[in-house]
Amino acid sequence: MTVPSTTSPTLDQRTLRDAFGAFPSGVVAVAASVKGQLTGIAASSFTSVSIEPPLVSFSISTSSSTWPQLREADRVGISVLADHHDVVCRQLAGPREERFAGLPFKVTGNGSVLLDEAVATYDCSIREEIGAGDHVIVLLEVHEVGGGDGEHPLVFHRSAFAKLHRDDLDPARLDGRINGAEVDGGSSDSPAQDHHDAEDAA
Ligand SMILES: Cc1cc2nc3c(=O)[nH]c(=O)nc-3n(C[C@H](O)[C@H](O)[C@H](O)COP(=O)(O)O)c2cc1C
Repeated sequence: MTVPSTTSPTLDQRTLRDAFGAFPSGVVAVAASVKGQLTGIAASSFTSVSIEPPLVSFSISTSSSTWPQLREADRVGISVLADHHDVVCRQLAGPREERFAGLPFKVTGNGSVLLDEAVATYDCSIREEIGAGDHVIVLLEVHEVGGGDGEHPLVFHRSAFAKLHRDDLDPARLDGRINGAEVDGGSSDSPAQDHHDAEDAA
């Protein structure tokens, strides 16, 4: 169902950008080799969507000069950037001809471009494009997942990069259910298992 859009006279773009920036996210490289040409962007709009079937999404600006080429890819690689990838992220968002210069990556047989030092990788194909205002929501089917050499993810928050302080996460305080997965409230005899459950649910 499409809900009619409303505009508020008090909702200026700066206010909206600040509000969107309050939500922290990871950053991914979305990249492919199309007809022998490397193409891709950095994107913080990546999110998991469905387990069955396995689906993920990201949003891309309708003004993107990369999307017309990237959308032609048979397979698209998603690489979750690691916390040492701040410079890499800026490079992937910078001038198109320099985006992959000096980066360690591999191109799969299907044309997905996956960064070596990512925290995780997804080999995907584009399933649907959904117009959404000044962006297109790109729904991707996941065919394969992998782990990279990276350990901790890069975090993007309020237009700046940050690191995740895992030590601050206390799984015992995650009561109830998250994303449909039962999260133990800390009553288990096995704290290590609790921690794992919380990670699964995240
Ligand atoms: C941290 C970060 C996150 C970004 N996330 C997105 C995103 O989710 N969607 C998007 O369209 N562009 C995003 N960009 C911008 C793109 O990486 C890229 O700079 C932009 O698409 C312009 O390049 P193009 O014309 O080649 O597409 C992001 C940039 C940075 C630095």
